[in-house]
Amino acid sequence: MKKDYNFGYTKVNSKQKTKLVQDVFSSVAPSYDVMNDLMSLGMHRLWKKRFVEIMDIKRNEIILDVGSGSGDIAMEILKEKLTTSLYLLDLNEEMLSEGKKRLKKKQNIKYFIGNAEKLNFNNNFFDKYVISFCLRNITEYQLSLKEAYRVLKPGGKYCCLEFSTPKSSLISSSYKIYKSKILPLLGEIVAKEKNAYKYLSESIDLFPSQEELSHNLEDCGFTRVDTINLFNGIVAIHTGYKV
Ligand SMILES: C[S@@+](CC[C@H](N)C(=O)[O-])C[C@H]1O[C@@H](n2cnc3c(N)ncnc32)[C@H](O)[C@@H]1O
Repeated sequence: MKKDYNFGYTKVNSKQKTKLVQDVFSSVAPSYDVMNDLMSLGMHRLWKKRFVEIMDIKRNEIILDVGSGSGDIAMEILKEKLTTSLYLLDLNEEMLSEGKKRLKKKQNIKYFIGNAEKLNFNNNFFDKYVISFCLRNITEYQLSLKEAYRVLKPGGKYCCLEFSTPKSSLISSSYKIYKSKILPLLGEIVAKEKNAYKYLSESIDLFPSQEELSHNLEDCGFTRVDTINLFNGIVAIHTGYKV
């Protein structure tokens, strides 16, 4: 029997989900950065800064940024002023080009169009695998965790920044109203893409909790799996190491 996937609350097949998600990113690519600032009141910048601190990057590391989009994480990594090799990968050409435009004068960056579910890199190659606000959009996200484990060197670190589950019920109920009513409205007014932001809201609702994602990482072989909640768990950073 064929498996169903959630594109937000709509059930679709695997191919349809990948295509629908990519259509979302193609449509929001030009307004993606403005919308991020608006939706999070600039908070995403602080979350990303904290994310890069937690990566604990060392000189000469090889870093893979999956779902790199418009290049926010790479920009933040470059602020560390360390010599690193950055590999930016995204399934969406429009999003990757936004990143290329921003980073065009920067050195030691390579760009790849590719799917996180099947990476075209050798085993044991990267020191860090980082993924920010992308995991939720991957059709078979468990496959991406296995691929992350494969391409990391032994001792390499997995770092994921993603929306998650708020810990307090008070925050959870106001956040629910924000996601279901305000987000799609902002999407309609600013990006003229109400459905894209409706998808964003629904995909956040359906994404595994901190505990479930941690178990998934352990099932793939990651050790010392840790979760850092930001904003009461609205956003969480997951880390783990390859043995
Ligand atoms: C919400 S954006 C995040 C961009 C950036 N990392 C950030 O934090 O601002 C998600 C990105 O993941 C990409 N993406 C979605 N599914 C993917 C997949 N299966 N493989 C690689 N990239 C994917 C999208 O094209 C999009 O650019």
